[in-house]
Amino acid sequence: MKHYLSVKDIDSLPNWVSEARKLKEDPAAHKSLGEGKTICLLFFNNSLRTRLSTQKAAMNLGMEVMVMNFGAEGWQLEFEDGAVMNRGKSEHIKEAAKVVSQFCDIVAIRAFASLTDKEKDEAEIVLNGFVKYASIPVVNMESSTAHPLQALADAITMDEQNSQARPKVVLSWAPHPKALPHAVANSFVEMMQLQDADFVITHPEGYELNPEITKDAAIEYDEEKALENADFVYVKNWSSYSNYGKVLSQDSDWMMTKEKLGKAKFMHCLPVRRNVVVEDAVLDGKQSLVIEQANNRTFAAQVVLKKILES
Ligand code: CP
Repeated sequence: MKHYLSVKDIDSLPNWVSEARKLKEDPAAHKSLGEGKTICLLFFNNSLRTRLSTQKAAMNLGMEVMVMNFGAEGWQLEFEDGAVMNRGKSEHIKEAAKVVSQFCDIVAIRAFASLTDKEKDEAEIVLNGFVKYASIPVVNMESSTAHPLQALADAITMDEQNSQARPKVVLSWAPHPKALPHAVANSFVEMMQLQDADFVITHPEGYELNPEITKDAAIEYDEEKALENADFVYVKNWSSYSNYGKVLSQDSDWMMTKEKLGKAKFMHCLPVRRNVVVEDAVLDGKQSLVIEQANNRTFAAQVVLKKILES
């Protein structure tokens, strides 16, 4: 495998999940695989889980890790071909990506959506800039439109927790005071398309995700109806896609409560705003899987890095 950019790079989800679960049982089993190899983690945005879990995964494989908060500490990058760089941007992606490639064997990038320019966000200029100009494999640590490491960790968590032949899984929008990207929801939808499940997306009207991603996924605007007999409820806020990046509703009726959750397991990628997105009783209760999802980020990253190192 050359790069891990989206859920579409997973050739067999059951095999990857099974391999990740084996790594979880014995994280140091392949410690010599990454010996003498280095990964650079470049962050254009904040992180807790992605940073620590990807670092941990690389260390479990015997790799050296270099981390840079590129957004705060790096030169401001220019991505446009032929740009006259007489303004704020000091370095072109052409040089930056080639320079980074000399210092490490894999580069992992976090670069969120601007939520102001749909065309630019969908072009994934930062991630694809590194793919185009770096000479080493690139891993997506959450880009404008995708968070495939999170989706893989979610698949591992569901596999561990599932007791049904065909579970009912609901992706439920929740309110949030800020405009958030679509990346987590997009990758969760794509991951569900690889699973045998009764999958339903529920959100207020106007919050439809990119139809090229949701394809024929069931959408139910009545949350109560969508949640009936759910086994897993994945709660996430995202901003409007059609009215790009706008917050159209902060309706607190969409906050997940213990009552609405019923007997389902609760999932969220974290970080989460308590008593806005989900009430305390859910997060503090036994049905919440959020801490295990975060734990599984290590083994999701480890299976990805292992496959890259092996190829
Ligand atoms: N879920 C997730 O990606 O967490 P961080 O933003 O803290 O990395």
